[in-house]
Amino acid sequence: MPFPLAFLDRMKSDLGSEFLRFLGRFGTARSGEHSPEPVEKVDAFGNAEPIPWHPDGRYLAERPSFTLDPSFHAGAYYVQEASSMLIFEALRQTVDLGQKQRVLDLCAAPGGKSTLLLSAISRDSFLVSNEVIQNRVAPLKMNLEKWGHANVAVTNHDSEDFERLAGYFDVVLVDAPCSGEGLFRKDEDAAGHWSEASVELCAARQRRILTAAADLVGQGGVLIYSTCTFNAAENENNVKWLAETGGFEHCSLALNPDWGVVEKERGYQCYPHRVRGEGFILRPFENGGNKTPFIKYYVPKEWQRIVEKQLGVFEKWVSQPADYEFFTKPEGMVVAVPRQLTEEFFAIGSVLKKRSVGVEIGELKNKDFIPSHTLALANFLHPPFAEGEPDQGTSAAFFEKRKPLGSGLGTWLDAGGIRKLAARLDEGAGQPLEQLPANGLADSDGCEMTSLEMEHGLDGLDTDLIPFHP
Ligand SMILES: C[S@@+](CC[C@H](N)C(=O)[O-])C[C@H]1O[C@@H](n2cnc3c(N)ncnc32)[C@H](O)[C@@H]1O
Repeated sequence: MPFPLAFLDRMKSDLGSEFLRFLGRFGTARSGEHSPEPVEKVDAFGNAEPIPWHPDGRYLAERPSFTLDPSFHAGAYYVQEASSMLIFEALRQTVDLGQKQRVLDLCAAPGGKSTLLLSAISRDSFLVSNEVIQNRVAPLKMNLEKWGHANVAVTNHDSEDFERLAGYFDVVLVDAPCSGEGLFRKDEDAAGHWSEASVELCAARQRRILTAAADLVGQGGVLIYSTCTFNAAENENNVKWLAETGGFEHCSLALNPDWGVVEKERGYQCYPHRVRGEGFILRPFENGGNKTPFIKYYVPKEWQRIVEKQLGVFEKWVSQPADYEFFTKPEGMVVAVPRQLTEEFFAIGSVLKKRSVGVEIGELKNKDFIPSHTLALANFLHPPFAEGEPDQGTSAAFFEKRKPLGSGLGTWLDAGGIRKLAARLDEGAGQPLEQLPANGLADSDGCEMTSLEMEHGLDGLDTDLIPFHP
């Protein structure tokens, strides 16, 4: 396909003698480069080739029909592009992942980096996963519910709305909306939307996001900036500007030279002719400045704390219920908040209006507790609630919305014994409770999703994966 001439000229001057190799990659089908693997259940990925910079990452031969795969819906794996998993290595080298961390993923939808972050941080750490564009929040929330971790709050705010949380976070990730040059190889539309003016527009928007983000990082905290584009305006210039104006220092990473990642002043750059992945760049910074956050927080006044003597009802459903505080919302929905993170959840709840804090585990109706789909996916669901496994044909019909699965809970087991529940079925409620957001296209910002992918919380561009680990 034809690429913008201005883009080609710039890449030629940036890459010099490597330019032809770079260009050569645009005629190569991605699927040809990896060995084919059937995708039925998560254990089918066991033999797929590992991605060297993520312990759980695997290269897939092709993009299978994830939307009809129950283990995908159960959150057994998440599909994303290999280069972007380099974020894991940046975290590993700059953050003490064994310690409690407060983490903000500022540009989070559809949730690839947030799932990666949740798997990397400790259970007592806290993630705020934020997306500003409203119709991208439902797929983000759904992907994180599938992932099943309780230590995450989802918010729907502009970066500037976080102002009162200045200095609050130990790690802030800005996986910025960008001109998407690194994705031209697999997304021809991205090339079609590209112009020099759009690059300038993206660079200015990124600067605005970075200005707000820099303020949120506490003393000694880490800010990671990443884009999937190659140009200096969005990468080098913004990175330089942040270092000069924000009191941030570059963190160096020691990366295995075999991976092919190029170290530049602007960051660690993945080029498709050098790495097994698409175009991507990241730059970690450390905040040398001094910020002391002070957040006043409150429990939402309409929430009722469930008292000790009522807690017995949850013992059947929740592993280690003592680790959670339970509240009821006015309409009867029960919310579980990890006890050691109540302060963090309520701080976010107090400062940001558009947020989802705590896990909605079900409804209390008189003396009955009706568990939610979200609880079925949570990794703190009490294990005895595995009741049979619907066959592949029945579950495909369910995901195509042709047929409910029946009563009970469908469980999917992989060879390694990972337990994730595929669906909360129609028990109690009289209809399937699989909650799918409405169709619709996200705003165009280099991360567009098709309506089907949107519905299933997928980013259409991604083809590699990280399996879930409990
Ligand atoms: C590169 S994508 C993020 C991909 C995501 N981190 C992942 O791994 O799945 C950039 C995101 O930034 C969001 N965005 C767009 N404009 C924004 C703005 N002004 N401030 C913050 N985020 C914005 C987009 O909606 C998009 O979801």
